[in-house]
Amino acid sequence: MRHIISITDLSLDEIARLIDTARDIIEHPLKYRDLCRYKKLATLFFEPSTRTRLSFEAAMYELGGQVLAVSEAASSSVAKGESVADTIRTVSCYADIIAMRHPKEGAPTVASFHASVPVINAGDGGHNHPTQTLTDLLTIMQEKGRLDHLTVGLCGDLKFGRTVHSLISAMCRYPGVRFVLVSPEELKVPSYVKIPLKQGQVPYSQTTDLRSVMPELDILYMTRVQRERFFNEDDYIRLRDSYILTPEKLENAKPDLTIMHPLPRVNEISVAVDQDPRAAYFRQVRYGKYIRMALILMLLEVQA
Ligand code: NCD
Repeated sequence: MRHIISITDLSLDEIARLIDTARDIIEHPLKYRDLCRYKKLATLFFEPSTRTRLSFEAAMYELGGQVLAVSEAASSSVAKGESVADTIRTVSCYADIIAMRHPKEGAPTVASFHASVPVINAGDGGHNHPTQTLTDLLTIMQEKGRLDHLTVGLCGDLKFGRTVHSLISAMCRYPGVRFVLVSPEELKVPSYVKIPLKQGQVPYSQTTDLRSVMPELDILYMTRVQRERFFNEDDYIRLRDSYILTPEKLENAKPDLTIMHPLPRVNEISVAVDQDPRAAYFRQVRYGKYIRMALILMLLEVQA
């Protein structure tokens, strides 16, 4: 039985296969519509979510399966003080696969120790978000046609942004990838996330100035300042508008730049950028469902 807690739980071959399956689903959706009949996905979301939860649920329905959903801690026995271990033992009796989002870093790992079905980490605190990264990798393949030899700019809250941490762990495994890390001093990438960059001698630079690095970038991955992870509101207010992407700031960008964002956006990309053909963030949302369909099939060991 496989669990997906971190993106590094998947080999590069497996990621390539998931991307191929997702692309085949996009082209031949009917081939896939009954493959998970009689299977149930439980979505346990103890933190807010729109895209991740609904794309997991839409993915399971499109595979012909069914969904058991808990969308907030307050409506489950977690509110009565039940442990993650006991909740997971229980849900394992009802569902064939579990997607879990939790505010505490490591909760899905604990869940995986007690589950008798596959557990997928759908975001744990400020730590990891592997299925967003699969979505991002599929997006990059669709937009750029490759995952290697790219200069990837990551901008915003690189400290608490779990999507950034997982994307760095994934992309540093492809040759020729270079990272440009753009954030305020207080929101720099944590040192543990940089370990694989140092070990693999992956080039990266750090700056506070987005404008000066814009011409180098093949991908610009914008992120929201993660208000819910701050210890005090004043710091959040001071930092929240550090970067606001506008059409003017894109003037010296490459004509084939790909602009991504895991969403939700708060203020960090002006709506005027949405008209720019390089803005890929709503296409990115669409890909999330297909890659999750591919992942569910892989973990349930269902062949098309
Ligand atoms: C992200 C998350 O939850 O980490 N959203 C998502 O899953 N698409 C990004 C965010 O909340 O800023």
